[in-house]
Amino acid sequence: MIHDICYDYGGDIDERLSNVIDPLIPECFIKDAVKTLSYTIMDVFEEKDIIILSILTGSWVFVSDLIREMPLGIRIEPVIISSYPDKAIRSQECKFRFYPNVNSSNRNVLIVDDIYDSGKTMDLLLDFVYENNPAMVKTCVLLKKERPDLPKRKDNINFVGFDIRDEFVVGYGLDYNGLYRNLPYIGILPKGA
Ligand code: IMP
Ligand code: MG
Repeated sequence: MIHDICYDYGGDIDERLSNVIDPLIPECFIKDAVKTLSYTIMDVFEEKDIIILSILTGSWVFVSDLIREMPLGIRIEPVIISSYPDKAIRSQECKFRFYPNVNSSNRNVLIVDDIYDSGKTMDLLLDFVYENNPAMVKTCVLLKKERPDLPKRKDNINFVGFDIRDEFVVGYGLDYNGLYRNLPYIGILPKGA
């Protein structure tokens, strides 16, 4: 039966990955958070049509779940901003690798990223979006990392799924050197991985 094949396959992946990565946020908590975020977002945008600027590749999984909880007119535009060369676990200088193909003038814009860390990625994209006189701009991240080592970051995130401590995390779209995005939960990358 197709159902059995899917079940066995899914279970196997989960087991293999969970031997390596300690869980921090289980799948069911993420599901609940995504639902709550979607209601809050719809409330704030008063059910108007929105453009989602999805920062790739990390927000891919999050956005795909989020939009299925939001029965609005939604357009999605990818943006690629990179700041993590290869095996780095602290963001470096970030830059656009792919600009959003959209004119946000008079539009309602929601920027979505997987995680807010130093804040440089969000600052860069917000500056770009504001140049086009949007009607409303809001920002949403699944995770917001504590960074006590940094001088105060700009407080420019409107919707947050979870506040987490300063650890390098992977799964549910987040990667380390391109891997672990397919992990269905968020886990902590072991030191020295
Ligand atoms: P920021 O510009 O320092 O805020 O970094 C944000 C970007 O860095 C996110 O879009 C992620 O791609 C990446 N990032 C930051 N922290 C982590 C992490 O713990 N795991 C994986 N990617 C991260
Ligand atoms: Mg990113």
